[in-house]
Amino acid sequence: MERTFVMVKPDGVERGLVGEIIGRIEAKGFKLVGLKMLKLSQAMAERHYAEHRGKPFFQELVDFITSSPVVAMVWEGNGVIESVRKLMGKTNPLEAEPGTIRGDFGIYISKNIIHGSDSPESAAREIEIFFRPDELVEYQRSL
Ligand code: CMP
Repeated sequence: MERTFVMVKPDGVERGLVGEIIGRIEAKGFKLVGLKMLKLSQAMAERHYAEHRGKPFFQELVDFITSSPVVAMVWEGNGVIESVRKLMGKTNPLEAEPGTIRGDFGIYISKNIIHGSDSPESAAREIEIFFRPDELVEYQRSL
């Protein structure tokens, strides 16, 4: 079954949006299979954002993501990668549609509340950075 990595960034945690975000993904119908709160180390942040190394905003990105705790999650379900990206909205919150998480709650591209994997390859890579296999829970929903 398809899985994606989702992270509520420090601004989302500090603003008390964790419940709202989990609620929206749950309400859509996806299954939460991994969840933890942590403060990222410099090394973890650089690994997670490796593809952005060399970009002008890289240092700002690493400083921000290590500044305060994040909530890291793995969600499972049919089409979950693309669907979570739709729920999040465009990277720049000012361009994100109302009704999306970034469109409803953000105004800064550097503080855009939430991260979600953009492909199956990214999802596998990101899940491995944040979770050991035994931290992901297998269960059936009797709904
Ligand atoms: P995310 O989807 O987590 O992946 C990379 C992040 O870099 C992105 O969200 C934004 O928060 C951030 N980002 C992208 N472009 C810029 C930019 N031009 N200036 C600052 N931050 C950016």
